[in-house]
Amino acid sequence: MNDSHAEATNQAHWDEVAPIHLKSYGIEDLLNGGSQIDSIQKSELYPISGKDLIHLQCHIGTDTISLALDGANVTGVDFSGESIRIAKDLAARVRSRTGRTFKAEFYQANVLDLKSITSEKYDIVYTSKGVLCWIRDIRVWADTVSYLLRPGGVFYLLESHPILNMFDDTASGLRVKYPYFHQHEPTHWDDDHPDYSDSSYIPKNKTYEWTWSLSDIVNALIKSGLTIELLNEHSRLFYKAHPDMEMDEDGWWFFREFKDKIPLTFSLLATKRG
Ligand SMILES: C[S@@+](CC[C@H](N)C(=O)[O-])C[C@H]1O[C@@H](n2cnc3c(N)ncnc32)[C@H](O)[C@@H]1O
Repeated sequence: MNDSHAEATNQAHWDEVAPIHLKSYGIEDLLNGGSQIDSIQKSELYPISGKDLIHLQCHIGTDTISLALDGANVTGVDFSGESIRIAKDLAARVRSRTGRTFKAEFYQANVLDLKSITSEKYDIVYTSKGVLCWIRDIRVWADTVSYLLRPGGVFYLLESHPILNMFDDTASGLRVKYPYFHQHEPTHWDDDHPDYSDSSYIPKNKTYEWTWSLSDIVNALIKSGLTIELLNEHSRLFYKAHPDMEMDEDGWWFFREFKDKIPLTFSLLATKRG
């Protein structure tokens, strides 16, 4: 599989689902100025007020705008032009409805190209919730994160736990179907799987996804000059990744049968060595 074909296919997928997500994400609270950042991230990353922050793979900007409402000077980057268009529009709508001024700017770029696109440096590089499976080269990704940080700057990631990639997500019960470890060839998801946010929508553009183990991710960051300050594993997930999952009272997803027994999300905070 040619990597640029895989990325172009993924880009078309994200352009297609961006307007679907504008409807399915539930943006009413955000339009009224309510931050969407969850309690785990707030306890691990905040305070962010006054910090220059770049949000990688920002999608339609809901988290980017939330980070800006919480006080950071935020730049959102995504390779989906349609996502960026919607994110800019959403930021304008939040400003107009709330009367609040905040810095949330957006531009379209492939994260893996940022070293040749920008010389800006940031206090915080942030990325979260469904990002690493789209990255074809974890070493280039980690080098980019490091490049974007000022010395002493902070990288923060909250992501689905890679253990979840192993399970068959089409049938009840936890059955190992896919390898945990990275495979050179991406997995081509070409079935009629519904969208993760709007289960009534079947995307026409299919995807290619890469698997990175926890050690791939951590080692790539260490090699790129970061010091890992925090690595946490959590027993709940931010979306419904499997038919057996149920939602708890706080909106997180979990397996009743394996409640608090297996990791579903991990978070990581690292600093750039000075
Ligand atoms: C699951 S979404 C991120 C979701 C986001 N956390 C949210 O809650 O809206 C993944 C995003 O990654 C973007 N993306 C995938 N590969 C990328 C790349 N190589 N460079 C930049 N953006 C990329 C997609 O366009 C999409 O907007």
